[in-house]
Amino acid sequence: MSAVHAPGRVNLIGDHTDYMGGLVLPMAVQLGTTISTVTGGTEPIGPGGPRRLVMRSDRLDGVVDLALPIEDPTAVSPPWGRYVAGVAAALGTTVGIDAEVSSDLPIGGGLSSSSSLAVAAALALGAHGTPLEIAHLCRDAEEAATGVPCGIMDQLAIAGGVAGHALLIDCASESLTPIRVPDDANVWVLDSGQARELAGSEYATRRAQAEAAEAVVGPLPRASMADIESLDDPVVRARARHVRTECDRVRSFAAALEADDLVRAGQLMVESHRSLRDDYQVSTDALDRLVDRLLGMDGVFGARLTGAGFGGCVVALARPGVTLDGIRVWASAGAAIVA
Ligand code: GLA
Repeated sequence: MSAVHAPGRVNLIGDHTDYMGGLVLPMAVQLGTTISTVTGGTEPIGPGGPRRLVMRSDRLDGVVDLALPIEDPTAVSPPWGRYVAGVAAALGTTVGIDAEVSSDLPIGGGLSSSSSLAVAAALALGAHGTPLEIAHLCRDAEEAATGVPCGIMDQLAIAGGVAGHALLIDCASESLTPIRVPDDANVWVLDSGQARELAGSEYATRRAQAEAAEAVVGPLPRASMADIESLDDPVVRARARHVRTECDRVRSFAAALEADDLVRAGQLMVESHRSLRDDYQVSTDALDRLVDRLLGMDGVFGARLTGAGFGGCVVALARPGVTLDGIRVWASAGAAIVA
């Protein structure tokens, strides 16, 4: 029996910027997906062995049992099997595998449980390559399997995570710069209690609106604010303003972390949340309430929704030792967060 592990991720700042070629600053969390292979995949299998992909999950219903090679991942049932099937189809897997999936990531909680599953599946099926290559493979597989046009952030944060660091990713050049999280900072990932599913959200609509702006003013991360403010459609203008200002905030946040200026980093998180709430309109009452509650607590530097929004989690930056009474914490750590 062999096992592979892929973490989940939390994004400290820079949301709805990756698919527009902007900046993001995610980090891997200590929760994740483990796939233990009984036979096949990375475990030797005899000649003429099973040409089936079989996976069971400790938390998700149904058994994935598919003939190889896989032709149409979108039709796979149970639905969680589509991520695995998408990866197997992208890899052209023909060698069977019988494996157990276990995960301690909240499902629909905004910590990328699905990308974590996809990256773990790629590793279990014997994928080789750089973090960037694995991330591309999994992103394409997820997109093919679900039809959601997601960016590269989640898969890259998971495949390329560095212990104790967040990852500054320029999604245009796909360059990765690890940024150390100061020891005197705790990163909290908190549950809003509102589940979210990317496929059911307005994610694709937001992306189309940002692309409508790009068609007029060029790549949003580098567009001039004057050009953005002169866009005719007020909704398209607001979406563009978010992407442009969010990229500036990511850069400033990375600099603040490097300077150990947690007060400034916290302010930028609050500005980011407001921009996601007002200009990008991806927040919810539950997320806003949780952010407000956190900001009222002593020792909390900043808080914001994290990931796509429409529910899911909030990320907060706090002084070590702060207790968050009555709030459900999914993950907490500072430099101890491991990839
Ligand atoms: C989801 C997508 C990412 C990214 C975020 C928003 O998590 O999978 O690619 O677009 O939303 O920042």
